[in-house]
Amino acid sequence: MSSIRQHFEENGQGHVFAHFESLSESDQKKLEEQASGIDLTELASLVRNLVQSPGSGNEAIADNLEPANVIPLPESKGGNPTDWKEARSKGESALRNGRVAAFCVAGGQGTRLGYDGPKGTFGVTPVLKKSLFQVFAEKILASTRVFGKPIPWYIMTSVINHDETVQFFERHEYFGLPEDRVHFFSQGLMPAVDADGKILLSSPSEIALSPDGHGGSLRALVRSGAVRQMEADGIDTISYFQVDNPLVRCIDPAFIGFHLLNGSELSSKMVPKAYAEEKVGVFCQQDGTSLVVEYSDLPERLASETDENGNLRFNAGSIAIHIFSRSFVRRLGSGKDEAARLPFHLAHKKVPHLDENGTLVEPNSPNAYKFEMFVFDALPFAANPVIIETAREDDFSPVKNAEGVDSPQTSREDQLRQYARWAKSAGIEIETDDTGLPSFAFEVSPLFGDTPGRFASSWDELAHKPELTEGLVLV
Ligand code: UTP
Repeated sequence: MSSIRQHFEENGQGHVFAHFESLSESDQKKLEEQASGIDLTELASLVRNLVQSPGSGNEAIADNLEPANVIPLPESKGGNPTDWKEARSKGESALRNGRVAAFCVAGGQGTRLGYDGPKGTFGVTPVLKKSLFQVFAEKILASTRVFGKPIPWYIMTSVINHDETVQFFERHEYFGLPEDRVHFFSQGLMPAVDADGKILLSSPSEIALSPDGHGGSLRALVRSGAVRQMEADGIDTISYFQVDNPLVRCIDPAFIGFHLLNGSELSSKMVPKAYAEEKVGVFCQQDGTSLVVEYSDLPERLASETDENGNLRFNAGSIAIHIFSRSFVRRLGSGKDEAARLPFHLAHKKVPHLDENGTLVEPNSPNAYKFEMFVFDALPFAANPVIIETAREDDFSPVKNAEGVDSPQTSREDQLRQYARWAKSAGIEIETDDTGLPSFAFEVSPLFGDTPGRFASSWDELAHKPELTEGLVLV
């Protein structure tokens, strides 16, 4: 018996090899490879601590919780335009010196959207249906043109979408970005287990594995060699965003500047929560340490608590936009610092698996536990964390669900409202409803940007051709 099989046997997971003798040689090899990627000691402790003795309730988390300190927008109460100007200029200079990389996490399964393909390939813009990846690529390209330095783009995929993602970029010639500046790497995987902690098989030769969460990005950045590559290229600042948000400013000089001026290891953007029950994590402080408390862990009495002006006290909603310092990613991602490890969270999900007779079962209710890390759990470990306010309408409108909130429809409308705001600020008369939604669809290329002068003249040129009004595109 091979040593890996022996190891699984000794750790009560020998059933993973139940069908081993009937497999072809290549399938045997594949299964052994999958198995050797699993840390059984880590898994046993996760099963003990998460599956078999669930958490002690959210009141424990609420102990001493205070709202986080936030840098307000210049136009918000307490905002300081001079600080923002200084931050912007610091960020611009870092960009001109080539210190910044863009980093998109795109390894998720995207189950809620129900789209067949990597989420980044989903067509999201109002007229041309440009894919999310194209939108980000063009934003990054636009920044490289402004700052005169190529901005490398790291994209984290997972085994479920890696090849398709790379092929998509190849097919589209990297959307104009230099090919050697777009780096793909796959994130780590974790096995799904049943209520007894037994690893599930998805076929006789395959373990039911799934991506280890966006928090897995820190160790994947280290393991893949991305951090080493950044170091060689003189990159020390990593601009993190998620694949589902077409409004995100992938490269935001003021945000980068605040991060650098404060010597921060991890900076974050917040938006004021829209209402008390909104399902976003909230930036808080506990004993002087910043942290994000998930909406499900924030007791209702705190979520709805208001200050003397009637505003929510815990109103700093997390929108998954961060800046990491490279050295911080190395420290956390290498796992060498025992005191700074991202915890795993438990998800109870439906996972097709082989039963003890080797028959494939398609469950219709959650039957399995998956383990995921969350990127915002890095916050308590970061020195000098910075949280800045951003306007939701300029940075956040994710595509999560097929319909309803955070869907292609809401995101499309938010993109249209943004274009209409830009047009209006360039002095263009445009009819909108009370919510700022224009009465016809048009689209502004990220390569065109929001440069008011250019905007106005191109608009004039195009808008006077009535046949072009619906679906007008500024490129
Ligand atoms: P979500 O939490 O929205 O999960 O991910 P998801 O897998 O994309 O979608 P659902 O829940 O199955 O519908 C937020 C971001 O984190 C990335 C996603 O690709 C998305 O950009 N992510 C999530 C990863 O990169 N890896 C993961 O393991 C999980």
